Amino acid sequence: MSINHVFVAGAGLMGHGIAQVHAAVGASVSLYEPDLARAVAGRDRIAANLDRAVAKGKLDAAARDAVLARITPVADVRAAADADLVIEAVFEDEGVKTALWASIDAAAQASAIFASNTSSISIDRLAAATAPARRPRFVGMHFFSPVPVMPLVELIRGSATDDATEAAIRDLAARLGKQVIVSADTPGFIVNRILMPLLTEAMHAFEEGVGTAVDIDTGAKVGLNHPMGPLELADFIGLDVCLGIMRVLEEGIGGPQFAPPQVLLDLVAAGHLGQKTGRGFHSYPR
Ligand code: CAA
Repeated sequence: MSINHVFVAGAGLMGHGIAQVHAAVGASVSLYEPDLARAVAGRDRIAANLDRAVAKGKLDAAARDAVLARITPVADVRAAADADLVIEAVFEDEGVKTALWASIDAAAQASAIFASNTSSISIDRLAAATAPARRPRFVGMHFFSPVPVMPLVELIRGSATDDATEAAIRDLAARLGKQVIVSADTPGFIVNRILMPLLTEAMHAFEEGVGTAVDIDTGAKVGLNHPMGPLELADFIGLDVCLGIMRVLEEGIGGPQFAPPQVLLDLVAAGHLGQKTGRGFHSYPR
């Protein structure tokens, strides 16, 4: 099927990037937040990304304007009525996601594909918020941040997802220039199953005073050739988001490698959520 209109629910770190990459390949995008000002802020963030590319000579001003013109901020789920694809990228909370999916299911056309960008929650549990007839077209499509830069999509089939839906997501990922890996519908899928134990161990090393945050991150960057150290990566993802993913892994799989370290609980309780609040394991701007 051809995907021309994409409704992206959530205009935060992931949602704005997802909207940007779809508009960049010619799709028209409705960027949804229940509060219109937040949807507009998401489009402003995309404009800032595109302005940086123009300043570097990687994009011309006309192309930037064309991408932005394809993105419409919306605050009403009825804008999903003629969408070919709905991508949900809201906060990693099962209740928030299922409530939203139920309302979008009532608004969207029967042929629309529903894709969740969940980083850890069961696709079957999210699909259960929609009518049984929708579930063959419900799938996990997990992007990585920064979405315009990271060339991976995790594709997660639920037990009802049909082959045509998988094929449509594969075609779309190819159009976006993203490589696809397929994960079973298990907590954290593939990448976060690998990543979270690295982050928890780095946090334990930090709280035990094994090294400073800078030295722990430098160890991973210089000694392991990682583009970011684990503590700055946790700050970048969002400490609240990391905590949510660890809880899903701890409850769903178990094991000390997924248990949120005390320092993470303390930082989140204090409202220090990483880059987005200006403070996490590091202070920002650095
Ligand atoms: N949005 C859009 N583009 C961005 C960006 C952003 N937030 N940050 C950087 N970029 C672009 C830059 O514009 C630049 O583009 P060009 O090459 O076209 O000029 C390119 O990325 C490289 O940026 P910089 O040179 O400024 O910086 P860098 O070389 O240090 O790279 C980075 C920045 C790409 C973010 C790199 O540090 C990196 O790869 N970090 C690791 C990211 C990662 O692991 N992401 C996955 C997180 S896990 C996740 O997302 C899923 C989950 O479920 C938690």
